[in-house]
Amino acid sequence: GWAERLAVDCVQGILQPTPTCDTWEQIWNFQARPDDLLISTYPKAGLKKYRSFIHDEGIGAKKGTTWTQEIVDLIQNECDVGRSQRAPTHERFPFIEWKIPTMESGLEQANAMPSPRTLKTHLPIQLLPPSLLEKNCKMIYIARNPKDNMVSYYHFHRMNKALPAPGTWEEYFENFLTGKVCWGSWYDHVKGWWDARHQHRILYLFYEDMKRNPKHEIQKLAEFIGKSLDNKVLDKIVHHTSFDVMKQNPMANYSSVPTEIMNQSISPFMRKGTVGDWKNHFTVAQNERFEDDYRKRMADSSLASRFHF
Ligand code: PPS
Repeated sequence: GWAERLAVDCVQGILQPTPTCDTWEQIWNFQARPDDLLISTYPKAGLKKYRSFIHDEGIGAKKGTTWTQEIVDLIQNECDVGRSQRAPTHERFPFIEWKIPTMESGLEQANAMPSPRTLKTHLPIQLLPPSLLEKNCKMIYIARNPKDNMVSYYHFHRMNKALPAPGTWEEYFENFLTGKVCWGSWYDHVKGWWDARHQHRILYLFYEDMKRNPKHEIQKLAEFIGKSLDNKVLDKIVHHTSFDVMKQNPMANYSSVPTEIMNQSISPFMRKGTVGDWKNHFTVAQNERFEDDYRKRMADSSLASRFHF
């Protein structure tokens, strides 16, 4: 059951993949550069039997990381689509806390990368390497409504062989709500970054806004990055970062990850990309339980009214 799968370690009470814990000191001492740009999201990398895995790939958040990475890359290169196809997503954007035995770590990737770098993290703000804050780096945070986030995360577990099976939907539902997942609780994550947004250079975005009005959100991103783009370029970016186009893009759809790790015939990485898929998964009772929990957990935050689901 779930208990035995919880063979992960903790960093300051937050579940983390064991290799991340084992190298935590190095991760914590990561040296940022002032022109680094960071993309941060709550992950969906889940519960792992970490001590025993060898070729773990657990790339995992399900809330718009990949989408935002593609948008940011195309903003930076003024929609040079060929240039954005220079390498798959996970090579273009070092994932700073990422560490597995058989792959170059996120730190190694980042250290070897010339500036300007765009980095990825799933860390809750209190675990963010201090250098990123000291150097006053720009940071983009994307939050997705927790119901769809949970569903997306569940399907990611099903297809990602490096992750433990998610158990039944019911079991999975409880573990998500109680935050017994790597990188901790969704609530703590979104609230922590929200509370820090005025103290640091953080642009806080919502997946649902990106779906509703992609051009507007892309414009906000461009402004934050310091790029002024004409209307035609913006429209091109909207097109190239639409779900359907990205799903066909081998450099954005994770098809370069071997099938032994991500079996996309079980559930594709670019799965649905919609708002409201939770309605096809939650029972009436689960929805009531969820709503009740949400009200309590969000009562202390102005974020409560920001999620639409
Ligand atoms: S990861 O593993 O951290 O990189 O995952 P992440 O990219 O954060 O989340 C994957 C979900 O985002 C959806 N997605 C998109 N939605 C809309 N438009 C675009 N362009 C897009 N790209 C990725 C992807 O389909 C996953 O959501 P679900 O609901 O599972 O489809």
